[in-house]
Amino acid sequence: MQAAQALKQGQLVALPTETVYGLGADADQDHACKAIYTAKGRPAGHPLIVHVSSPAAAQHYAQSIPECAQKLIHTFWPGPLTIIVKRLPGVAQTAAGGHDTIGLRCPSHPVAQSLLHTFESIGGHGIAAPSANRFGRLSPTTAAHVAQTFDELEHSPLALILDGGPSEVGIESTIIDCSRDYPVLLRPGILTQAQIEKATGMPLLIKPTASEDNPKAPGTLKAHYAPKAKVRLMDAQNLKVAVGMLSSVNASNQTRIGVYARDLPQTKAKHIIARKMPANAKTVAHELFAVLHDFDAQGVSLLWVETPPDEPEWLGVRDRLERAAASG
Ligand code: TXA
Ligand code: MG
Repeated sequence: MQAAQALKQGQLVALPTETVYGLGADADQDHACKAIYTAKGRPAGHPLIVHVSSPAAAQHYAQSIPECAQKLIHTFWPGPLTIIVKRLPGVAQTAAGGHDTIGLRCPSHPVAQSLLHTFESIGGHGIAAPSANRFGRLSPTTAAHVAQTFDELEHSPLALILDGGPSEVGIESTIIDCSRDYPVLLRPGILTQAQIEKATGMPLLIKPTASEDNPKAPGTLKAHYAPKAKVRLMDAQNLKVAVGMLSSVNASNQTRIGVYARDLPQTKAKHIIARKMPANAKTVAHELFAVLHDFDAQGVSLLWVETPPDEPEWLGVRDRLERAAASG
């Protein structure tokens, strides 16, 4: 109740979702939404996702929900899917970054659900919440990640942080633009193209990554999700060679290098911190941001990651790693 009231008073609240933690504000208060942009250091015009308790609650923001969006909602809500639809003029102007469309998502996390329901019971409609990180940095998947970012500031912009444990999915929601004649994947998440096409009965257009000319979706900027370490993606063979070469160098006073690979090269070098990447894409998605946060905390300045397989279920993980690598 305290969190819902804080939102109603125009304050910011960090909340857990099944994908990543969000930095929430009342989507209907422009002033509160502006505070999100300031807290994140996010350029104006980059729209926020509005979280709603149910498909019915989406009606407050959407001008219309086309059939393809309805099918997606029916199949995946509550869950890790954001749909972009035409916005009802006059609502959530700042949350939508001034665009005539709006991103809507109904999260399944019980704490997010309970917050949304309580918020509705005191007259709220939706919670605008981008991932609770500074612009361009790693998304948080635990309350501690959020606290590290914001509680360290002299004046924390957050009224409170709700702790709902580690986020289950671990990477941000799949975003599908349903505001055009055909569905377009704007950001891959944990859902596969096959699952999405099965739900809509239509082919899914996959937008090529990183249109720098289209800053509508910061999650789609080429360089994003940056850890402090410089990330390089390599196939297993190249990774072995690189680790082998380094291991033979005298290790004193060396830069710390992190290695995250399914096929973990053997090394005794003390300056190499190796961590096995699980074989399953969902497990990697779940731990990915926490692993990157951990490498940063260990003072790793170079991070060598084995390129994930070129298979549909790895799309979301590969996307995040490629963008992290592009940030270096
Ligand atoms: O999993 C998630 O989606 C998390 C949790 C907290 O729900 N949120 C999240 O928000 O990742 P954020 O702001 O970090 O990323 C939202 C993405 C951005 O790339 C944004 O530009 C895009 O959604 N987006 C939101 N509204 C949009 C719109 N009207 N048109 C195009 N893209 C939109
Ligand atoms: Mg984000």
